[in-house]
Amino acid sequence: MTTQTGSTPADLVRMVNGYQVSQALAVAAELGIADLIGDMEVSVGELAAAAEAHEDALYRLLRALASVGVLHEHPGRHFSMTQLGQGLRRDAPGSIAGWVRHMGAPYYWNAWSNLLHSVRTGENAFKALYGTDVWSYRSERPRENDLFNAAMASLTGSQTIALLSSYDFSRFGTIADVGGGNGALLAHILQRCPHSKGILFDQEHVVSGAPAELSRAGVDDRCAVVAGSFFETVPPGADAYIMKSILHDYTDDRAAEILRVCRKATSSGVMLLVIERVVGPPNEDPQTKFSDLNMLVAPDGRERTEAEWRELFAAGGFRLERAIPTPSGFRVIEGVPV
Ligand SMILES: C[S@@+](CC[C@H](N)C(=O)[O-])C[C@H]1O[C@@H](n2cnc3c(N)ncnc32)[C@H](O)[C@@H]1O
Repeated sequence: MTTQTGSTPADLVRMVNGYQVSQALAVAAELGIADLIGDMEVSVGELAAAAEAHEDALYRLLRALASVGVLHEHPGRHFSMTQLGQGLRRDAPGSIAGWVRHMGAPYYWNAWSNLLHSVRTGENAFKALYGTDVWSYRSERPRENDLFNAAMASLTGSQTIALLSSYDFSRFGTIADVGGGNGALLAHILQRCPHSKGILFDQEHVVSGAPAELSRAGVDDRCAVVAGSFFETVPPGADAYIMKSILHDYTDDRAAEILRVCRKATSSGVMLLVIERVVGPPNEDPQTKFSDLNMLVAPDGRERTEAEWRELFAAGGFRLERAIPTPSGFRVIEGVPV
């Protein structure tokens, strides 16, 4: 996303039609097209057979994606992935395949189609549509739950290198990742910090996938996995408590509740590390401002300015010390107990 959007009616139409690119990418990711093509040049016939798709319709999808630079179309209806499109491969470093599939999944797409309701009422679009919140919805639907966890791991994976190059986690003996999903971020941190131990904390149906992830990363012997709800408890005894992309999922009241629970588990000398975006000045920072709409539509949260983060920390029993920028656009927002 850029701030430069052009100035002609055609630019505006392109912007309006952006959802078509988004859904086309999601379908290609769902069919695993980037994995099937890999580094090769493959005919649409072979791709259709392997992906169990209609050959002509698949051709129309792929040539459209080639027109925006995700694939390259060769003579005879053959396709290869461009450098940009390589990011759709599941095995690519910084792959965003999981995120693309999640954003285009029908249940999630439908919630966005209810944005008008949120803007009219201030209410959460997802809940108005489904009668329940995203977390309860997914806890009963393994496919959507797996898609979401893979999406977070995918997005976090693409941000991790930037994060690790900007912040030294090795000074902490034990690092807890609260709402750490399937452990993707903590696994990377522990790999980078061989003398640190980890505690991964998330909901039961989410952490069940963590041991495999931690063992793949070779850090399972240094990482405890704990299931529970951060509205009730977080594991005591860590020197740093990471919360990445957690508090933006909640309203101020709910987010402060989580911080207060975390505060109970901490004593002086312990560091809170909230890894989140910080809303930028007017007319800039579309990533954060559209992520904010995503929070309004799906989990019922919001993105915050630095002043709002400071206020929220105070309501939760912490003092905001620094908000350290990273090249990923996320900041490491340090807090100390007061
Ligand atoms: C947006 S995801 C962020 C995951 C991970 N921190 C990351 O950045 O990739 C929010 C996480 O909070 C977890 N979560 C939601 N409600 C929770 C609760 N009540 N207790 C513990 N974890 C919860 C979800 O399962 C999910 O893993």
